[in-house]
Amino acid sequence: MITDLIGDTALSLGLPALKRAVGLVTRVLPIPQPTLMVGPGSSARLGETIADLGHRRILVVTDGVITRLGLAGPLLDALTRGGSQFVVFDEITPDAPIPLIEKGIDLYLGQGCDALVAFGGGSVMDSAKAIGISVANGRHPRQLVGYFRGWNGPPPLYAVPTTAGTGSEVTVAAVISDPENGTKLVIADTRLVPRLAALDPCLMAGLPGPITAATGMDALTHAIEAYIGDWGTDYTDRMALAAVAMIYENLPLAYATGQDLAAREKMALASTYAGLAFTRANVGNVHAIAHQLGGRYHTPHGLANAIVLPAVLRFSSPSITGKLATLAARAGVGDRDRPEGEQARAFLESVDAMNASLGIPAQLDALREEDIPALAKAACWEADTNYPVPKRMTQADCERMLREILPVPVQERPEETVSEEAQEPEAPAVPVRKPRSPRKAKVDTKVKAKSRAKAED
Ligand SMILES: NC(=O)c1ccc[n+]([C@@H]2O[C@H](COP(=O)([O-])OP(=O)(O)OC[C@H]3O[C@@H](n4cnc5c(N)ncnc54)[C@H](O)[C@@H]3O)[C@@H](O)[C@H]2O)c1
Ligand SMILES: [Fe+2]
Repeated sequence: MITDLIGDTALSLGLPALKRAVGLVTRVLPIPQPTLMVGPGSSARLGETIADLGHRRILVVTDGVITRLGLAGPLLDALTRGGSQFVVFDEITPDAPIPLIEKGIDLYLGQGCDALVAFGGGSVMDSAKAIGISVANGRHPRQLVGYFRGWNGPPPLYAVPTTAGTGSEVTVAAVISDPENGTKLVIADTRLVPRLAALDPCLMAGLPGPITAATGMDALTHAIEAYIGDWGTDYTDRMALAAVAMIYENLPLAYATGQDLAAREKMALASTYAGLAFTRANVGNVHAIAHQLGGRYHTPHGLANAIVLPAVLRFSSPSITGKLATLAARAGVGDRDRPEGEQARAFLESVDAMNASLGIPAQLDALREEDIPALAKAACWEADTNYPVPKRMTQADCERMLREILPVPVQERPEETVSEEAQEPEAPAVPVRKPRSPRKAKVDTKVKAKSRAKAED
């Protein structure tokens, strides 16, 4: 690998300059935005609009859960009423695996399609994007991994997100997975942004609690990483901060009462705002690590982000204290009259509290000590070559953060009698988090699951 050859010092000197240059380009790069239809019933209205556009045959990409729930019914009925021909491909599974994208490509070509509707979560939307750019260029998705690797843009693409998390309905990216080697790959092209999208809260009313929680935390991570990174603009900062405020207000409501359509709609909008922010300002170390966990252990993307987020924020906090204080204000936590360091600490504590209230554990059960060096190496490479992080992580930093989320057998945990903070004469603005025991995390999850079940009764 090139990182092995150029070494840590060269990396820390050369790549920041390169990334600054890319950052300047992304500030001015024109990124299209879809026309958005928002509100209950908007997916049917989108179907009516698409039917008016006169496509020959549309490939509707979705997944089996959505088919079983009949969520696409109103859109498909509108297409039928409008005289549109369509074929439904509902085999997508989480993380958009390449073999299923290949199947979608064959179906698109075999059926003579000329447009795509993506109806589902990020995995479905990204599969549709990958199918589209592959058929337009006559190339395999693997050959399109990277930035602007295709000569042609995809055929007309429309999106209906059924989770509030990825923001893929407005982003330039398609994240796909390669089951052959357990990796996640990104195809990025401004032409991947869908032309029209519908944010229909009715589709999300039955989203199970754990998926609501994980996908909502993905959106929060997008907003936070876009805001604390070095490529933010006034526009992306506004979008990111608005998303943070909306998520703090509405994610607990959407989690507690799935049927709360107002909260669902605001979460859908927040996810879109966060998508608008990060598609220009990019993400950071949290995603760099989470992608490795998703590739290796199939950890749901949002869950991986949620578990990693506290450790990365604590690691980055000395470089972003002011920004964390601003995030605290927008999240409605902490006291504006207190010093910045205290406000920053309040924000970090609020992220822990948000995770706990959503039943998200502090450790990742699947994580294995023996995997950590390779995971950290891949995460550092991804971050070094892509993300404008506020504080660069070394291999050792990343391994330390991964060990924070390693499930520790209860009998092996050190005594937690004296806090590290009390021993440090100059404690950092934000203390290092003590790992919670897996047993405690599990108890918390059960309690939350119970109280959620009660709320739904
Ligand atoms: N393109 C981007 O910009 C971008 C950004 C972030 C993440 N991603 C990628 O998106 C993928 C994750 O997407 P996701 O978090 O939306 O999850 P997902 O699409 O993988 O869906 C998760 C589960 O939720 C189910 N589901 C979806 N909508 C439902 C509904 N309304 N009701 C009931 N069940 C429903 C699905 O069937 C699936 O089992 C990852 O591969 C991630 O890397 C892409
Ligand atoms: Fe994400």
